[in-house]
Amino acid sequence: MAHPLEQLRDEALREIESATDEQALETTRVKYLGRTGSISAWGEQMKTLPKEEKPVVGKLLNEVRNALTAAIETHTAQFRLQKESGVLAKIDISLPGTPHEIGSLHPLHQMHERGIQIFRRMGFALAEGPDLETEWYCFDALNTPPDHPARNEQDTFYLPDGRLLRTHTSTVQIRAMESAPPPLRVIAPGAAYRRDELDATHSPQFHQIEGLYVDEDVSIADLKGELEFFMRELFGSETEVQFRPHYFPFTEPSLEVYVRSKALKGGEQWIEVAGCGMVHPAVFEAVNKARGDKGYDPEKWSGYAFGLGMDRLAMILFEIPDIRLFAQNDLRFLKQFA
Ligand code: DAH
Repeated sequence: MAHPLEQLRDEALREIESATDEQALETTRVKYLGRTGSISAWGEQMKTLPKEEKPVVGKLLNEVRNALTAAIETHTAQFRLQKESGVLAKIDISLPGTPHEIGSLHPLHQMHERGIQIFRRMGFALAEGPDLETEWYCFDALNTPPDHPARNEQDTFYLPDGRLLRTHTSTVQIRAMESAPPPLRVIAPGAAYRRDELDATHSPQFHQIEGLYVDEDVSIADLKGELEFFMRELFGSETEVQFRPHYFPFTEPSLEVYVRSKALKGGEQWIEVAGCGMVHPAVFEAVNKARGDKGYDPEKWSGYAFGLGMDRLAMILFEIPDIRLFAQNDLRFLKQFA
C-alpha cells in the first residue's frame, strides 16, 4: 500500500497540474509547502516517529518536497512564457520603426566652438569657474569698489547668503591666477548674468569668452595683434578692427573693440564686440594676497585681458536679429543652423 506521504504527493501534483494561473499555483504551494502546509506538518511529525522509521520517512519526505517544488517551478515558467508571448503577439514587427530625430548643435554652442578653436591655435588653454560666485571673485579682486554700479542690487542677482550669479566671466581670471603661477594663457567660456529687462538685444543670461595672458613683457601691441587676428579669422580677412579708449576697473588702460566688414550689415557700421585692456596692478596684488605670495609681482609680470560677448558675435555672424531666439527652443529657428 502507498505511504500516506506518497498519497499526499499525488494529490498535490494533481492540484498543481490543474492550476489555471500563477495565483492558483501559489495557493497550492502555500497549502503544501508553506510554513503551515501539510508537507511542513510532516516534518514536525518526524520527531514522534520510532527511531528506525525516521531515515526512511525522512528520505521520502525530501523526495516529495523536491518533486512538488520542481513541478511548481516548471508550471510557473510555463505561465510566464504564455504571458510574454501574449504581449509579443500584439506587436506587429512588420511595421516601420519610430524615427528618432537627430539634433544639432545650438548656434551659440557653435559660436563658442569656433571661438575656442581660434584661441587654441594661439596657445590658450581652457579654464573655468562656477556661475554662482562670491563678491571677492566677481568684484573685490577685480579692483571693483563697493560703490561701483555693477554691484548694485538692482543690477545683479544676489542670493540671501551674499553670493551672486557672476556678472561677467572675469571671475575666472582671478581663479586661474590663484591656482597657477605665471606665465599663464587661458580662455574661459561661460554664462554671465545681469538684471536686464529681456528685449531684442538684452538678456538676463548671456555668454562670454574671457581671455587672460600673463607673462614677462606683455604689451598692448600683443593684445591688439591677437584680437585683430581673432576677428579676421572669425569674420574674414578684410575685417577692420578698431580700439577705443574705455574704462574698466580691472584694466589700465582699458579699451573697447569694434569691428567693421563688408560682410557685416553692408560694412556701414562699427559694431562693438569686446572689452579689453592691460591687467591692473591692483588685480595682481589681490591675487598675491589670496595666494599668500608674490607670485604675480606687478614689477615683474604684465598681462592683458579681454571679454568677448558671444551672443553678440553669434548674432552678427549668423545674422540673428533677436537675442531671445537663443532661449526659445523654437525648432524652426534652430534647424536653420543644423
Ligand atoms: N568683464 C567685462 C564685462 O563684462 C568685459 C571685459 C572688459 C573683460 C575688459 C576683460 C577686460 O577681461 O579686460 O563688461
